[in-house]
Amino acid sequence: MIWCGLDIATEFSEALSSRFDSTSNNTIAPKPDVFFLCSHSTHSLCLSFIDDCVGGIPESNILTIPDGEEAKSLIICESIFNWLQSNNAQRGSLLINIGGGALCDVGGFCASTYLRGIEFWNIPTTLLAMVDASVGGKTGINLGHYKNYIGTFTQASHIFITPHWLKTLPQTEILSGWAEVIKHGILLGGKAWQQVQQPMPNTNDYQAWLSILQWNIKIKSRIVSEDFEEKGQRKLLNLGHTIGHALESFSLDQGKAIPHGFAVAWGLALESALAISVSTEQETSQDFHQCIKEIVQNLYPPIHFTQSDIPALMNYIRADKKNNNDTLLFSMAFTPGDCRFNIPVAPESIIKVLNDYVGHPH
Ligand SMILES: NC(=O)c1ccc[n+]([C@@H]2O[C@H](COP(=O)([O-])OP(=O)(O)OC[C@H]3O[C@@H](n4cnc5c(N)ncnc54)[C@H](O)[C@@H]3O)[C@@H](O)[C@H]2O)c1
Repeated sequence: MIWCGLDIATEFSEALSSRFDSTSNNTIAPKPDVFFLCSHSTHSLCLSFIDDCVGGIPESNILTIPDGEEAKSLIICESIFNWLQSNNAQRGSLLINIGGGALCDVGGFCASTYLRGIEFWNIPTTLLAMVDASVGGKTGINLGHYKNYIGTFTQASHIFITPHWLKTLPQTEILSGWAEVIKHGILLGGKAWQQVQQPMPNTNDYQAWLSILQWNIKIKSRIVSEDFEEKGQRKLLNLGHTIGHALESFSLDQGKAIPHGFAVAWGLALESALAISVSTEQETSQDFHQCIKEIVQNLYPPIHFTQSDIPALMNYIRADKKNNNDTLLFSMAFTPGDCRFNIPVAPESIIKVLNDYVGHPH
């Protein structure tokens, strides 16, 4: 069940109390089998609110792990498993993940493997986690530098999404999540596409954000429900991510890590240029590319690479999971709402797009 609204306190308390018998008086304090996973920042920013909703969480039922990508490691998983085990978590226990995409990924992974799987709920607290990472059942951790190499496909049984948390989120994180919103706008077309051409609402404007969150969750859930294990159309959600991941990994290797969404945003712009080379209606695709490029240029700083970096970028692109043997396969958007997957692209076309970017980055 995905809930998206403003009164998370009521919704969350009701869901918890309905999980227990009515004699629990809406409090989980005496119930030892609900565990709360948060990061340092969500512990200080969000946990007291949840604590109030449930009438007091015992300290032993809370584990705080590092913020961000550092949490997605085998070592952190071991600490989560040990915490669950030493507090007697059993098959019927519940893990509640409160945090960004990284925390939801690692918490979901641990829940889906501890005792071969216990129930988990997500309370995403970043824009990216609300519109993307917390929804769709991909859990995972990194194996060294290999992102999301270990994981499961397991759905959270409840997801509680509210724009309430956005107000403490740094602007960089809002922008990072907004790239996925732009992607969803491209995939959906129509009003969603119109919306992503408008400025982002202020984080105090809960109503505006609520409507944005709702259509984003709707499109992601619809695509996922039709292809849970990404055998076909779920690949559409990788739009912008082939070149985006290459830019992200390349920047990381250069010691200049960039937020995931910034790389995805530029991936969307560059892949829309690539779409022109395979499009049957070049003029329309050219206009569409121009429009995406302007949106991205106005919001995201350019990503620096030179002509001599293109072979390294091509190596990342060749290593993409979506490729089939030596054929480079992309998800592509030709016009708003007209997106397709498994489109073969010649390496020369990609090199040309990267070269053009070096010549005119902004
Ligand atoms: N499972 C999926 O389908 C999926 C999809 C997309 C991305 N992801 C994963 O999501 C991760 C990125 O997620 P992210 O962008 O949310 O980053 P993140 O989880 O690293 O969070 C970004 C930062 O924001 C802080 N934060 C969280 N909530 C806050 C709040 N309300 N106020 C202030 N600070 C807050 C975090 O502690 C962290 O420092 C990556 O690991 C990526 O692989 C997973």
